[in-house]
Amino acid sequence: MDNKRYGHFDDQHREYVITDPQTPWPWINYLGNEDFFSLISNTAGGYSFYKDAKFRRLTRYRYNGVPMDNGGRYFYINDGGTVWNPGWKPCKTPLDSYECRHGMNYTRITGSKNGVEASVLFFVPLHTWAEVQKLTLTNNSNEVKRLKLFSFAEWCLWNAATDMENFQRNFSTGEVEIEDSIIYHKTEYRERRNHYAFYGVNVPIQGYDTDRETFVGLYNEFANPDAVIEGRPRNSHAHGWSPIASHYIEVELQPGESRDYIFLLGYVENKQEEKFIAPQVINKTQAVAMMARFDSSEKVDAAFAELCDYWDNLLNIYTANTGNEKLDRMVNVWNQYQCMVTFCMSRSASFFESGIGRGMGFRDSNQDLVGFVHLIPERARERIIDIASTQFPDGGCYHQYQPLTKRGNNDIGGGFNDDPCWLIFGTVAYIKETGDFSILDEMVPFDNQPGTEVTLFEHLRVSFNHVVNNLGPHSLPLIGRADWNDCLNLNCFSWDPNESFQTTENKTEGSQAESLMIAGLFVVTGKDYVELCKILPDHIKAMQNLKDIDFAAEADRAQRHVDEMVDAVKTHGWDGEWYLRAYDFYGNKIGSDECEEGKIFIESQGWCTMAGIGLEEGLVERSLDSVKERLECEHGIVLNNPAFTTYHVEMGEISSYPEGYKENAGIFCHNNPWVIIGETVAARGDDAWNHYKKILPSYVEEDRQTLHKVEPYVNCQMVAGKDAYRPGEGKNSWLTGTAAWMWYTVSEFILGIKPHYDGLLIDPCLPKTAHDYTVTRRFRGAEYEIHVSNPNGVSKGVAKMTVDGMPVEGAVVPAQPGKHIVEVVMG
Ligand code: GLC
Ligand code: GLC
Repeated sequence: MDNKRYGHFDDQHREYVITDPQTPWPWINYLGNEDFFSLISNTAGGYSFYKDAKFRRLTRYRYNGVPMDNGGRYFYINDGGTVWNPGWKPCKTPLDSYECRHGMNYTRITGSKNGVEASVLFFVPLHTWAEVQKLTLTNNSNEVKRLKLFSFAEWCLWNAATDMENFQRNFSTGEVEIEDSIIYHKTEYRERRNHYAFYGVNVPIQGYDTDRETFVGLYNEFANPDAVIEGRPRNSHAHGWSPIASHYIEVELQPGESRDYIFLLGYVENKQEEKFIAPQVINKTQAVAMMARFDSSEKVDAAFAELCDYWDNLLNIYTANTGNEKLDRMVNVWNQYQCMVTFCMSRSASFFESGIGRGMGFRDSNQDLVGFVHLIPERARERIIDIASTQFPDGGCYHQYQPLTKRGNNDIGGGFNDDPCWLIFGTVAYIKETGDFSILDEMVPFDNQPGTEVTLFEHLRVSFNHVVNNLGPHSLPLIGRADWNDCLNLNCFSWDPNESFQTTENKTEGSQAESLMIAGLFVVTGKDYVELCKILPDHIKAMQNLKDIDFAAEADRAQRHVDEMVDAVKTHGWDGEWYLRAYDFYGNKIGSDECEEGKIFIESQGWCTMAGIGLEEGLVERSLDSVKERLECEHGIVLNNPAFTTYHVEMGEISSYPEGYKENAGIFCHNNPWVIIGETVAARGDDAWNHYKKILPSYVEEDRQTLHKVEPYVNCQMVAGKDAYRPGEGKNSWLTGTAAWMWYTVSEFILGIKPHYDGLLIDPCLPKTAHDYTVTRRFRGAEYEIHVSNPNGVSKGVAKMTVDGMPVEGAVVPAQPGKHIVEVVMG
């Protein structure tokens, strides 16, 4: 096996350091965490957008291109005829040194050639609609260096989808202006648009280009643009075709001299009445003001320090010191960082998600919440309200909504019967973190229709009821279009390769298709709902709208339904050695030993064990053993086994994938944590840890960089399973529910620090070899330093606990202001 390494972690700086530009796949990072975002690869490829990667794409990017990852923000240096880029691409001139450091919302790429070092720091300052690029050129040679520097960015014509299809129009619309050292991209500004983009630099320029073909040369490539190779800008002015922005700067550096150049790629919106300063001349005030905010190294350094403080602050909320550096770096840095990125991006823009596809998923967004609610609780609150506003009065939900409009997406519609449960899941996580019960009192509409507002609590009630009201012949939940597994389409029966499994006509009428995954999910979230109802009377005094509800009766009613579901699973959902996965349209078993393919599935093992269904009778342990026996492999736990080798019309998309990939027996990392949590329910700390570490990036990073291919510092959605051609190969990195689930699992179930209504519940589940560790946790304004010791090498059970030296009954550290020391002894 090829064990070549392309980089390593720098824990002290919270960076991943890439030392070879030719990574097995572009290894990217994200800049920005509010409104303005950029994707940047280790060779500076990628693009920027404002808020919405489809409708406000600022710079152009070509997915799945040849060569790979072409297009980005590039600096070309022409040093006496030798032309190179600090990030190696696009010229690919061999460099004397190369390094890319991906940090928390910033990336620094440094290259050197023939005695010149070029280092570029890329970041989006807080509260700023722009990407800063601070280029530092240093002459390390003994001679005077006269360099010709060219910047480069290619404009996208705003809508990233039409940008790559509507050329009869696009080639005539492009418009720019050039003033001082700023190039303005104003395509369509004169009609309905109030926004433009700009690319400027803080020094006078000696030339520029804005027309791509003039700069590059029609039959050239980004690797050898005419203007750069000849060392002569054309001062071209784009009219239609493909507008770009390139500055030309002549640089003279004495031996030992170093100089900074600050480039800014920004976005501006003007008020309708302030759009123009003269006919067809755009109002540049805001752009010029933004340039002034970052026109010196001091200003840029201060903005960068502010960004670093922001991250220090976030990452100090939960820190673990376990003595295992591979674990600590994921818990303290990269896992939380990935959770923040999924909060910002949902599933929209990565190197696998083109930014023009789906919006925010109802279930995805609720699950993502458990990854960031401790970091940015206010934004989590807003997110919950947005999500709940897309629900229907019967508890069903739009499967997706659009981030710009926050409206439910009609193209995909509803009917995914797991969706409602996730609202309970997300809301409970929010309240446990913040203690903010008032969110339940908020008036929230259905389907965004004014006049339909009910309390958020009522939304939870209809969510719960949606399952109760949609039970099938075995009293198990009807699946609808699909449950968590979008590709288990039991009511679809599609023979037409041109239709989508998710949106085509669904034969739910008369269907008997039931889901054991929803059954488990319902028991977990149903118990949460019952518990919430029981404690709510203590918290509703200050509330307007919840005063008259009989919560005790509601808790009883809900408990009955949960009990009935548990019975139904035990009676109709147990196959002998594991939980069934589903019943199909006709009422036949799916995920049973009786089946030829797909005998066992991970989702129902995960959720029914998390729910503890049949724990006393040993069902949980048997299910988990079956997972180990049949689903586990070297790289993680596969989704189903045996993989489907032919298309089954009654199962849909799942059986359309080749064996070992995606939902057909891939290691769909998102659901591995369900089994891991299930293991903690069964108190099997060694098994939990083994499963966890198999998909923990820092363990993969150690010796599998080439095989794994994608970034070794974040989780990917899928790793090829044991039936695949190349087991262990990762795909679809960054935007996956795996991030939140890995975080939830390690922080709450392995290290065992669980936010609870009254405080922090301490309930670790450890491998028996685990030593002592410390977690510091900021929680509702207070700070807890929690020392856990495990003198007898047990997996579970808190024998003794003190808070500030005082013994505590039970395992809840009460929420109280101030700083507290908690000592926990396992045993
Ligand atoms: C994707 C979807 C998620 C779904 C999963 C399994 O990750 O974003 O909603 O649950 O696939 O199909
Ligand atoms: C496809 C993918 C699945 C994803 C879904 C989203 O079915 O295989 O993973 O959840 O698309 O629509």
